Amino acid sequence: MAINFQVTTMNSYSVKELLSENLLLQEVTINGWVKTFRSNRFIALNDGSTINNIQCVVDFESFDEDVLKQVNTGAAVKITGTLVESQGKGQKVEIQVTGLMIHGGADPETYPIQPKKHSLEFLREKAHLRIRTNTFAAIMRVRSALSFGVHQYFQQNGFNYFHAPIITGSDAEGAGEMFKVSTLDSKNPPLTEDGNIDYKEDFFGKETNLTVSGQLEAETYAMALGKVYTFGPTFRAENSNTSRHLAEFWMIEPEMAFFDLNDNMDLAEDFIKNVIKYVLENCQDDLRFLEKRLLDEEKTKPQAERSEMPLIEKLKFVSENSFKRVTYTEAIDILRNSKPNKKKKFKYPINEWGADLQSEHERFLVEKHFKCPVILFDYPATIKAFYMRLNEDGKTVRAMDILFPGIGEIVGGSQREERLDVLKEKMAALGIDEEELWWYLDLRKFGSAVHSGFGLGFERLVLFATGMGNIRDVIPFPRTPQNAEF
Ligand code: 4AD
Ligand code: MG
Repeated sequence: MAINFQVTTMNSYSVKELLSENLLLQEVTINGWVKTFRSNRFIALNDGSTINNIQCVVDFESFDEDVLKQVNTGAAVKITGTLVESQGKGQKVEIQVTGLMIHGGADPETYPIQPKKHSLEFLREKAHLRIRTNTFAAIMRVRSALSFGVHQYFQQNGFNYFHAPIITGSDAEGAGEMFKVSTLDSKNPPLTEDGNIDYKEDFFGKETNLTVSGQLEAETYAMALGKVYTFGPTFRAENSNTSRHLAEFWMIEPEMAFFDLNDNMDLAEDFIKNVIKYVLENCQDDLRFLEKRLLDEEKTKPQAERSEMPLIEKLKFVSENSFKRVTYTEAIDILRNSKPNKKKKFKYPINEWGADLQSEHERFLVEKHFKCPVILFDYPATIKAFYMRLNEDGKTVRAMDILFPGIGEIVGGSQREERLDVLKEKMAALGIDEEELWWYLDLRKFGSAVHSGFGLGFERLVLFATGMGNIRDVIPFPRTPQNAEF
């Protein structure tokens, strides 16, 4: 039996339904928040279902002054009336109001989200209310659609959703500084004989942390289910106060048995293009709004800093054109001979092979040199994680990073080292304890095979899709150094 689930709050319609379905001349009820109330006559009402408001026309003589006084920006109201063709410009339909009930008012003296332009910085301090603005409502609807697009892509392509643990006992990934998880009394922790904290007495009987990546665990599942993906929160305690870093962010990590690096790159490119197509198809109103917002903002910037393409065109461009694939070695040559390097414009000049790439270099390659998304691969082993597969040259590994315009690194991934002896050597050289990763090594002892995967920072994808400039504005409640309000 099919379950027909329909949420009908007090038999009401959503604004989206009222605007898109043919309900003309019907008696309708709608609940929402007042955006504006003009001339004691026109209420612009929004309920979060769409960027568009429904206009509700009030005949002020039919209502108590006391009630009308409470129809302020931010108030929650219930409106009943007839849906009619609009007399005015700007909307096709409107509600001729016959009933008006105030759920809860919003004092105009103290309600912070007034109908005027607020700075993003101001709104960050009001993160519990900023979602009432058009901009944040649009961003978060796009974020939601993107999440669905991610699941849809993997589910339709034979992947199993794998829930990686959040608390982990291994810190060997080396992806970043970790947050400790402990229930020990921080003022008076139990000590071992030599004066160190005795984690045997801690909740898990060992040191534990919040995960920086679900990859190592995902590998175990890929080596049984074939193709898996994680999509969950990850934590990094690095003190990077940038517009691209969060201490808590969501990462998507597919992991595939029998995939080599080329298969991995093909998948990553196809995946990104498809989720972008998904929002292009499903978030048109919000993207148009965000595009206009961006164009208005760009007008205030100097010409050189303006982006070359409007948002929707940029998303189409990325979803329709091939990403450029370049080895690290080729990229270093390009960078070494680049104008900014020769003119000493880079903060970190590129002198020799082996240098780690900074975001200034990544952005030069993507935005100035290739002018399209770039996949860099075959990095020096010395600047990448222990688990990446060593190439025949003995000095590079099968790593790949995807670099995006305006974002920099959006994906990091690799083909994994499947050879037990090579992996052990690598771990020994880096001082990684074999005992700690005994289960990871087991994968190389029993039915080992070529396998690969990557991690995509979800917020960086949302940044790209919405055209926003600061990662704090694309996650509901950002966690960054010195900031965990709400
Ligand atoms: O490059 P990273 O560190 O790779 C890994 O963690 C691998 N274990 C992934 C894998 O192969 N399964 O992180 C992957 C991506 C980055 O490319 C970036 O998009 C995002 O995660 N990311 C962050 N996003 C927001 N804030 C941070 N602090 C981030 N650190 C990484
Ligand atoms: Mg990386």
